[in-house]
Amino acid sequence: ASLVTVLLLVAGGWAWLSAHAERSPIVIKFSHVVAPDTPKGRAVEYFKQLAEQRSHGRVRVLVYPNSQLYKDKEELEALQLGSVQMLAPSLAKLSPLGVKEFEAFALPYLFDDYDAVHRVTQGRVGKLLFSRLEAKGIKGLAYWDNGFKHFSANRPIHVPADLQGLRIRIQSSRVAAEEMYALGAVPQVLAFADVYPALQAGVIDGTELDPSNFYTGQAYRVQKNLTLTGHEYLGYAVIVNKAFWDDLPSDVRSILEGALRDATVYENHIARQQNDAALAAVRAAGTTTVYQPTPAERAAFKQALLPVHARMADRIGRDLLQQIYQDTG
Ligand code: LMR
Repeated sequence: ASLVTVLLLVAGGWAWLSAHAERSPIVIKFSHVVAPDTPKGRAVEYFKQLAEQRSHGRVRVLVYPNSQLYKDKEELEALQLGSVQMLAPSLAKLSPLGVKEFEAFALPYLFDDYDAVHRVTQGRVGKLLFSRLEAKGIKGLAYWDNGFKHFSANRPIHVPADLQGLRIRIQSSRVAAEEMYALGAVPQVLAFADVYPALQAGVIDGTELDPSNFYTGQAYRVQKNLTLTGHEYLGYAVIVNKAFWDDLPSDVRSILEGALRDATVYENHIARQQNDAALAAVRAAGTTTVYQPTPAERAAFKQALLPVHARMADRIGRDLLQQIYQDTG
């Protein structure tokens, strides 16, 4: 080939490469630990759809559900290292980063309903807690609901004494551990991905899970009794690697903020529905007896668990706790 042909080929290749480089999208890996058909799983998919559409392909969101990439603890490390860009861990799981205040959300019977939750997450406390993440290289973008946790085991649970001596899986949370001690149960910290195998193997006796995770995480196959104690709220923080976020072109960041705003409305809208549907599916499966405690039984759980607030007040911060009580009250 003549020199001219070679030069033309090189120039052509260069033009192709640079055009392609311009079009190569910004990739967001979004990792999470639950099934796609959960409030969180669905909302992540919705966020992906909106972000990709509205950015006309400049952003690609790769979703990894079911701990495909990382389990609970590893995913936070991966976020800080920049191996993934976005997560939505449960609020209590942010505590091991050194922001113990997030464990407030795991306090028993803290919230009467979703409205009380939103007064906290969408108010001054929600803002303050997100600001604490920045020093850890993480930016908090949104709060997402799931629901309320209930106890399960392979024996009927009507009163706290029924949990005596049972090994109950908890999230990595000191508050949750104190709750188990208050009930005479034995807490066992496990990643969410390990709950079903551990139940199957008999390594743990029971769980505290929301209906959505109880159903989609298969616990209903190996737990005969679920009692609707609703003793603990489960919600999420949508978080992003801060350096990644700050480096985004500002128009792209605005598109993502808008997509997340809409995904948040959607998530909070479907959270209750999905949990109601999951509870109906558990009942229909017939492997688990769902028990609604009487008012007296519920009061017994409250009485046993409420002292955990005072025991954990120093850990969470007394001022913060007072603010939360004011905002929920
Ligand atoms: C759990 O570990 O029980 C939950 O936090 C899982 C989840 O992300 O909903």
